[in-house]
Amino acid sequence: MYDAWKILVGLAIFLGLFTFAFWMNAGKAAPVPEVKIDTPEIKKMPEPERKCVEDKHFMRTTHMQLINHWRDQALRDGDREYVNKKGEKYVISLQNTCIKCHSNKKEFCDKCHDYAGVSPYCWDCHIVPPEEPKEEPKGNEL
Ligand code: HEC
Ligand code: HEC
Ligand code: HEC
Repeated sequence: MYDAWKILVGLAIFLGLFTFAFWMNAGKAAPVPEVKIDTPEIKKMPEPERKCVEDKHFMRTTHMQLINHWRDQALRDGDREYVNKKGEKYVISLQNTCIKCHSNKKEFCDKCHDYAGVSPYCWDCHIVPPEEPKEEPKGNEL
């Protein structure tokens, strides 16, 4: 005589384990990983003004073209001022503009690029300023 319930429980556990990997990935179908924007430079901006040079969607999808355009504008036309869609001005510089705000290049640019399998060769020549040391937690807060 078998205990039908034991079989059912066993089967449920088996199916659970078998499909575990699938549901573990279920929430991760997003096209890009979460990237951190909590750098010292960005935190200096008041929260509602924590914006990139263009809107987030545009940056996410089009930053590659944007910086190529920056390079051409800076080097071919000698014009190092970028005016965004809202009319705000930025100095055209990978190091002093993009990486000034996104000083966590490893956790930001690199993380996303590793995920997407791209490795821009820009840093062969362009300098990545060293990241500012992380703030130490204050002893009395532990
Ligand atoms: C003034 C600070 C600042 C500068 C300069 C800046 N960024 Fe940003 N960037 C931000 C902030 C803040 C966000 C998050 C925007 C949001 O959530 O609306 C962001 C978002 C992004 C995103 C989208 C991230 C995501 O979650 O999808 C990309 C890509 C990006 N920036 C690349 C760049 C590049 C490339 C440059 C130089 C051309 C640049 N940024 C210059 C502050 C900056
Ligand atoms: C939200 C994800 C994400 C973030 C954050 C991000 N990138 Fe990218 N980047 C991509 C993807 C995806 C591509 C490849 C796009 C393609 O092949 O069309 C790319 C391509 C590029 C390219 C062109 C590379 C090539 O070989 O064509 C450059 C240059 C670049 N990114 C610079 C940056 C810089 C600088 C930062 C940080 C300030 C940054 N990206 C942050 C996703 C990201
Ligand atoms: C072979 C070396 C080299 C490589 C590789 C390179 N650059 Fe440059 N880039 C330069 C030099 C040199 C300048 C001129 C610097 C100046 O006049 O301030 C420059 C200037 C620029 C500028 C304008 C000013 C500035 O300081 O940011 C941008 C934007 C730029 N490059 C983007 C890129 C991007 C994006 C990549 C990768 C897809 C890249 N570069 C790869 C050498 C290089």
